[in-house]
Amino acid sequence: MPCPESPRASPSQTADRVSKLYAVFTVCSLPAKGKAVISGLHHYALEVPDLAVAEGFLQDFGLETGEKDGSLVAMCPGRQQEQVRLVEAPAKRLHHVTFTLRPGTTDAVREALERSGTPVIEPPPGATEDGLWLRDPDGTAVQLLDEPQASARPVAEVLVNMGGTRQRFDVAQWRTATEDVLPRRLGHSLLFTAQPARMTDFYTQVLGLRVSDTIHHDLVTFLNAGPGDHHVFGFISSTHRGFHHASFEVPSIDAIAVGADRMRAKGHQAGWGLGRHTIGSNFFHYNPDPWGSWIEWFSDIDQIDDCWVAGDWDVPPHLWGTPPPETFLANSEPAPTKE
Ligand SMILES: [Fe+2]
Repeated sequence: MPCPESPRASPSQTADRVSKLYAVFTVCSLPAKGKAVISGLHHYALEVPDLAVAEGFLQDFGLETGEKDGSLVAMCPGRQQEQVRLVEAPAKRLHHVTFTLRPGTTDAVREALERSGTPVIEPPPGATEDGLWLRDPDGTAVQLLDEPQASARPVAEVLVNMGGTRQRFDVAQWRTATEDVLPRRLGHSLLFTAQPARMTDFYTQVLGLRVSDTIHHDLVTFLNAGPGDHHVFGFISSTHRGFHHASFEVPSIDAIAVGADRMRAKGHQAGWGLGRHTIGSNFFHYNPDPWGSWIEWFSDIDQIDDCWVAGDWDVPPHLWGTPPPETFLANSEPAPTKE
């Protein structure tokens, strides 16, 4: 399908402080070799020093925990897909990330890995043997599964009376607005890296993700897996690799606020939010996890298709709300030793 000649949202229509520096490229003009093969993020796995602490924290966040293949895993209520896997180890660090592949692309991925000189590896201890395993340029173990994403928990339609839209009549919204507040799917994760250009090249040219947008060249890079969420993965520049955050979709902005109240009531550290992001446009609230990284609820993220025009932007991460705490971009993971 041809893309419209001009982007649907002109940068000049956005607030003054949201200044677009330049368009990077038009996704729909990419040659066939740029075709996305990763279809989405399946789960992420962390090494943590205390599984009981991890389990309690993720339950308070709104996930269900259980045992799978001998490991502690966390899932979204109503979704049959592992979302977080936890491996006991002396210090918190990213253990691996797992993506799903578009059907029938495994052979193409194998060829792309071979062309790039990326060997297929044995699964790391604590992970399943399914799919293809490799290490990205930062040395992070990556699992690629030839299976579809599980459906997210169905949620009710949200009728709004906002802007020029009048959809809700004779319904008292407050009586149902907080009925469903739990996470329904893992949406994305951002990692720290000391080599964002190399990581971006690898994930786009070898694994087929696409650049959605960047902030300050490569300070933050957002990647998409084709039509759908504005970003499913991405990088934040740092001194070394590490896990920054993972983000789960909840049904509404009310669900985000109620979740933040719940975490406060359970005595967890204050987080960041409520706010609306610039890049991706989603409402957000982050809580620090017990090991110095972050976990986020989101709602109302931009949906993009093959006609999305990526840009490089000079903007803060939030459109409104308080600025992020000073610790937000602190990489708490130990610098890795040679593997
Ligand atoms: Fe996020």
